[in-house]
Amino acid sequence: MDMLRALFARNMALPRHHAPVLEEMTLNGIAKYIQSGKGKRILCMVGAGISTSAGIPDFRSPGSGLYHNLQKYNLPHPQAIFEMSYFKMNPQPFFTLAKELYPGEFKPTVSHYFMRFLRDKGLLLRCYTQNIDTLERVAGLTDDNLVEAHGSFHTSHCLGCQKAFPLTWMKEEIFKDNIPVCDECEGLVKPDIIFFGESLPQRFFQCIQTDFSDCDLLIIMGTSLVVQPFSSLTNRVSETTPRLLLNMERSGQTDPIMAALGLGSGMDFDSENAYRDVAWLGKCDDGCLALAELLGWKEEFEALVTAEHSRIDEELTTAKLQGATIGAHHS
Ligand code: APR
Repeated sequence: MDMLRALFARNMALPRHHAPVLEEMTLNGIAKYIQSGKGKRILCMVGAGISTSAGIPDFRSPGSGLYHNLQKYNLPHPQAIFEMSYFKMNPQPFFTLAKELYPGEFKPTVSHYFMRFLRDKGLLLRCYTQNIDTLERVAGLTDDNLVEAHGSFHTSHCLGCQKAFPLTWMKEEIFKDNIPVCDECEGLVKPDIIFFGESLPQRFFQCIQTDFSDCDLLIIMGTSLVVQPFSSLTNRVSETTPRLLLNMERSGQTDPIMAALGLGSGMDFDSENAYRDVAWLGKCDDGCLALAELLGWKEEFEALVTAEHSRIDEELTTAKLQGATIGAHHS
């Protein structure tokens, strides 16, 4: 009993009061923090909400979220579509869904380009993404800028002999409605996205060793922060590092019970102890544009997005024309 009493005594200590690290607990306060030269090693943590405006549904938004629209697959439960045991038994639902969601038809969003813009200004320490759509790469972020915490379609491997397969091969198999099978051992080939129960990529564990203690501003966009271990990353930054959430809803807050026990260290946007966490609720594309405007970057940033989207449109048009031309020769 004494041990329990000691534990509660130690943990019931009220959360410590901190001097504010922002002039104001608003997006403007974050902009001023960056303009003051403090926010120059910015970490971004992102989820499916930054790709919804590109036409890729997120997972949990009521109605539109993927997990609310998988009835036709007769899954034991929605997340089974990303579980290894179910995938090995019945890979069809995953590959049917992959075809529906296949990136490459989608353009990176304003939020993707905001991270590219931060990188071009030398302010992006790293982007930690939970997304598998590779749109961060299409937006111009490189391997070094990225931690793809839940893997991506970028590469695939045979579950039998581990043979590697490129995205081009996997895309062809998916669009031929094939179940991708290894040409060496006839094993099932799976894109390198992390299924529930699989360990995250080694790079994730390497980069978190120093990134979160090095960063001086954390920007979290488009994620419900319900999946571990990714979500707990928000607590790895130092106590004086501001954290900005750009999201349709609050997420990542301290669980009230844990807070009462002084155990939780999620984000605190609203209590009288709030001193560094800012929630800007709305579409993350609008939040990025608003922040860019406050920083005097609006015109330059909008020019980047426009130029990039025009380039992608031209590439898609050329590809379609080439496809049509090739088709014409063969018809
Ligand atoms: N602007 C801002 N927020 C948005 C937008 C938008 N345009 N669209 C959706 N959101 C918000 C939703 O309100 C929600 O809080 O983004 C969040 C998306 O949450 P989820 O659907 O849970 O997606 P995510 O957090 O990325 O899921 C994490 O779960 O299934 C696993 O591995 C999968 O990586 C995924 C992980």
